[in-house]
Amino acid sequence: MVGVTQNPLDDPNADSKAVARAAAEQLAIATGVARHELAFTLGSGWAKAADLMGETVAEVPATEIIGFSAPAVVGHVGTLRSVRLPDGRHALIIGARTHYYEGHGVRRVAHGVRTAAAAGAKIMVLTNGAGGIKSHWTPGTVSLISDHINLTADSPLEGATFIDLTDLYASRLRDVARTVDPGLDEGVYVQFRGPHYETPAEVQMAKAIGGHIVGMSTALEAIAAREAGMEVLGLSLVTNLAAGISDAPLSHEEVIAAGREAEARIGRLLADIAVRL
Ligand code: HPA
Repeated sequence: MVGVTQNPLDDPNADSKAVARAAAEQLAIATGVARHELAFTLGSGWAKAADLMGETVAEVPATEIIGFSAPAVVGHVGTLRSVRLPDGRHALIIGARTHYYEGHGVRRVAHGVRTAAAAGAKIMVLTNGAGGIKSHWTPGTVSLISDHINLTADSPLEGATFIDLTDLYASRLRDVARTVDPGLDEGVYVQFRGPHYETPAEVQMAKAIGGHIVGMSTALEAIAAREAGMEVLGLSLVTNLAAGISDAPLSHEEVIAAGREAEARIGRLLADIAVRL
């Protein structure tokens, strides 16, 4: 139909890596930056880090780059930004995350990560706002992700692609993060499909199988990043205690408010980590 923009990733015959390469080429032209050495996906509460990391060279609405979608959620930013770090390297800041719960399929979920890899990034930093299972955590706590459990029953990989996920969230990068804040805790991230929050029983299940953090974004992206050969650093902002860990009911407004309250502090933390990566 004339006038309707199709996302090429919705075509079952599309080659998702070729679309990512095309996106990286468009990004290089739009930003004037040929190569991005590292990339950050900034989830709830983390957006401020982009301002603190260095000088913004260019900012592009994500929808102008092939394969990206408009953000589905109020409070999520939809841009791709190129930031020059003090040492001259360029970071690609992906403020346009497509969540699995949006129902557009895993290819769109993985597209940001794949574009970052095609743009040259060797390190992928994935951040999110998430629920905390450790009862001593309080909203505003930052936890490194040490591993994940993927409960979406899906994968961004296609065909018989057998990828090792050992040390997926690189212990080397967690050590780097701890040189900035030695007190950073870590935990296993459990990805649920969402968009509903978990029931208290589901949170107890996540705890029983070894989880410490519950969320709706990062595991599928991390798998795509590993396939693309990138090292992954994962950071969760605990915006709330997970359902049933505290008696309080959950709300998206509470998640956004916790992010806002924490943004200056965690933005500084991430900017300080970025220069050491
Ligand atoms: N569960 C899942 N995703 C979330 C949560 C939660 O408790 N808080 C923020 N994102």
